[in-house]
Amino acid sequence: MLARVYSACLQGIEAALVSVEVDVAHGLPSFTTVGLPDAAVRESRDRVRAALKNGGFTFPVERITVNLAPADLKKEGASFDLPIALGILAATGAVKGDGLGALAVLGELGLDGGLRPVRGVLPTALAAAREGKRLLVPAANGSEAAAVEGLTVFGAESLSQVAAFLNGEIGLDPVGFGGPAPAESDELVDFAEVRGQAHVKRALEIAAAGAHHVLMIGPPGAGKTLLSRRLPTILPPLTGSEAIEASVIWSVAGLLAPGQGLLGQRPFRAPHHTISDAGLIGGGTYPHPGEVSLAHHGVLFLDELPEFHQHVLETLRQPMEDGVVTISRAGGSMTFPARFQLVAATNPCRRGCPSFEACACTPPERQRYLGKISRPLLDRVDLHVEVPSLTAEELTAPPRGESSVVIRERVIAGRERQLARFGRSRIRSNAQMGPRLLRRHCPLPPEGERLLSLAVARLGLSARGHDRVLRVARTIADLAGEESIRPEHVAEAIQYRSLDRGQSR
Ligand SMILES: Nc1ncnc2c1ncn2[C@@H]1O[C@H](COP(=O)(O)OP(=O)(O)OP(=O)(O)O)[C@@H](O)[C@H]1O
Ligand SMILES: [Mg+2]
Repeated sequence: MLARVYSACLQGIEAALVSVEVDVAHGLPSFTTVGLPDAAVRESRDRVRAALKNGGFTFPVERITVNLAPADLKKEGASFDLPIALGILAATGAVKGDGLGALAVLGELGLDGGLRPVRGVLPTALAAAREGKRLLVPAANGSEAAAVEGLTVFGAESLSQVAAFLNGEIGLDPVGFGGPAPAESDELVDFAEVRGQAHVKRALEIAAAGAHHVLMIGPPGAGKTLLSRRLPTILPPLTGSEAIEASVIWSVAGLLAPGQGLLGQRPFRAPHHTISDAGLIGGGTYPHPGEVSLAHHGVLFLDELPEFHQHVLETLRQPMEDGVVTISRAGGSMTFPARFQLVAATNPCRRGCPSFEACACTPPERQRYLGKISRPLLDRVDLHVEVPSLTAEELTAPPRGESSVVIRERVIAGRERQLARFGRSRIRSNAQMGPRLLRRHCPLPPEGERLLSLAVARLGLSARGHDRVLRVARTIADLAGEESIRPEHVAEAIQYRSLDRGQSR
């Protein structure tokens, strides 16, 4: 007998529907899987055999052939366990096959017949909704799948529960969407805790409002890590479509917690400086998303920037500019979204001297250290911020800054002005404006023009640096609630090119 069960396989961060055909025929007992399965899919037969037996079903002592169609798509992972097991049960008549045509199924089986959560349920749910199918997944994946509007999702705990459901012996309630995961709140992580450093907080507020990349440079203990880790507390909330896009990547990477629906807050990724290029931008035989994609619509925090391998840092250039990363491997080429906001921190020199004036390093030593951050990379960072050591008074006085909630309100207002300006286009923030939009939205008054050309001449700004100033000036004007950019906005934006100044000296 032949049975067909629908499932899905991942191609990068998209899922394609796969038809799992199971034929159980007389002949010498065997179990063959064809259709480009990887090792995990081939191992499926041992799990399926044990799960069927321990779930109280009979495993047919016959010739079993499983075909995963279309045959030219590579299939990986353990999510085919459940569709294969159901195919065998349908082919031997142990479950009724009539409900299977309208259903897509996936799930890993334990040897006891229990269902374990799998990766990539959210993109599968999007594919099932596109194809007009209903979806049956392990219960722990239910809320993730239910985030897709208009899709009926069933969650099950075990193979025997699924079999009873298909045979009409029990009913399963469709899983409801519980909303995105609530944002974690930690009162200790708040800008109110930060002493002094008012101009750094201001720079981070601008960065948050316009989604600008930012580099902080300062001596050890000045508070760079402390400040960066507080950035998520002032970022605007994820919009609905951003939450889906970011959660799809987390789902493919298997990082959504069991029972978690969508990401409830912008991701914050802080990889260690020993990370490889494959870890940062993605890779593997079948390319998997890297940290830049996991930080999509959120923050990628690179602490101690010059300690990263230089070739790893250079791989950031394409995604920083384009918001996507393309990885080519023997197994195929994949494009992943990677619209992250880079926040980087560094000491001014390897010894970590307390200030520029008191630096014991020679100019070539300093140059060698910061030189690891290449000019093209620096050019792509909108805001360079110096973080000086705290004075004795600042250290002893109680922290008096604004709390994150207050700053966040201004950030949200500034971001809403940008969204209104860009309308229905794909551009969501000032940092994404290309040359055409810059010309349209960032006209300067004559005094602003004069300041900017002076800065280009004095600091040796590149064309890219010039455009960065315009984008940041636009965000500063948005935070001030101004329709047009004023000279003081340009003057403030120029201050955030301090490393260009350092390089031209
Ligand atoms: N502005 C500040 N307000 C309050 N506490 C601060 C401030 N700056 C530093 N600290 C204290 O000093 C500690 C070290 O700060 P942090 O780790 O952020 O420094 P850093 O600039 O990242 O140093 P390094 O260059 O060595 O990484 C913090 O845990 C915090 O307790
Ligand atoms: Mg630090």
